[in-house]
Amino acid sequence: MAAMLVCLAMIAAAALAGAPGASGQELTADYYAESCPQALATIQLVVGAAIVKEPRMGASLVRLHFHDCFVNGCDGSILLDDTDDMIGEKTAQPNNMSVRGFDVIDAIKSAVNTACLGNVVSCADILAVAARDSIVALGGSSYDVLLGRRDATTASLDDADDSIPNPFMDLPELAANFESQGLTLRDLVVLSGAHTLGYSRCVFYRDRIYNETDTLDPSYAASLDARCPPAGEDEPLASLDDTPTTVDTDYYRGLMQGRALLHTDQQLYRGHGGASDGMVRYYAENPDKFAEDFGAAMLKLGGLGPLTGDEGEVREDCRVVNQQ
Ligand code: HEM
Ligand SMILES: *[C@@H]1O[C@H](CO)[C@@H](O)[C@H](O)[C@H]1NC(C)=O
Ligand SMILES: *[C@@H]1O[C@H](CO)[C@@H](O)[C@H](O)[C@H]1NC(C)=O
Repeated sequence: MAAMLVCLAMIAAAALAGAPGASGQELTADYYAESCPQALATIQLVVGAAIVKEPRMGASLVRLHFHDCFVNGCDGSILLDDTDDMIGEKTAQPNNMSVRGFDVIDAIKSAVNTACLGNVVSCADILAVAARDSIVALGGSSYDVLLGRRDATTASLDDADDSIPNPFMDLPELAANFESQGLTLRDLVVLSGAHTLGYSRCVFYRDRIYNETDTLDPSYAASLDARCPPAGEDEPLASLDDTPTTVDTDYYRGLMQGRALLHTDQQLYRGHGGASDGMVRYYAENPDKFAEDFGAAMLKLGGLGPLTGDEGEVREDCRVVNQQ
């Protein structure tokens, strides 16, 4: 009996510490407590200043972490610039002309390198912490971020194209995409709640507003038509929910009203009474549960395939692999 309790306690402790990386070493909450006690406060300060300057930046930083983690794990690969020998992830379809926040990551990296008196904090960890700090700065609840990720020494445009979901997928494809990362349908619905923040370019919602009128609220459609012409300009932005700089559950309420901007968002609530419909309704009605489950799902996202121990490196400059 006692042995069983000890065993259960060990399983619980392992779950708390997160999945081990390939090296067997686990991420931990206090990874920088000795090596750089100022690290987290420094990141928070730079994130806060960037969001004051431009509130959308919080959304952009959250998305960067997601797009990093879905491509071979949370390893900072998205931050690498192209070189003569390597085409990185920045111009992959889901990222090209779309992911942003690289200058803010550079500013954070330079601030932590100064605060830590050296190159201590990995770029992959910076992305995870910056995402959490963005959520909190824009009114969301805080959640634990585990640390100790190391940075990749390579990146892949093809892997980014293959792994990151695109906004034209139907629900089964979305669910399969998340499942291939070890994430459930509920994780899909909860993490899509990140679309409580930020904007999309016309090129990603044009099809929806002109060709999905059956699931689209007419007055919402009319307001979008004026912004995003049937052909031509791809850039005009529309917000992903009615309150794009506040973390709340308006996103889920919008889905229930046919006011999803992206095809993929509306797929989560089709009014057919499917499992994801029920989850959308639940989060629309229970903001506290959303806050709780979102934090847990972000922890799971941040635990995808990290490099740990002596794998990879801690990049000096997030855009380039260290010189040998
Ligand atoms: C489920 C599949 C998903 C698809 C198909 C998808 C697709 C998109 C698209 C097309 C945009 C607009 C990008 C642009 O026009 O530049 C966007 C924005 C955004 N996405 Fe997602 N997304 C998904 C899931 C997620 C997840 C899981 C997160 C984070 C946990 C996330 C966070 C964001 C944020 C915060 C923005 C706004 C970015 C900004 O304004 O700079 N998305 N997404
Ligand atoms: C990225 O977008 C630019 C500008 O639209 C375009 O010229 C370029 O071909 C795109 N790159 C890729 C790899 O699709
Ligand atoms: C709507 O769908 C039709 C048929 O698939 C397609 O030809 C057309 O380009 C689409 N319109 C827009 C604005 O996406």
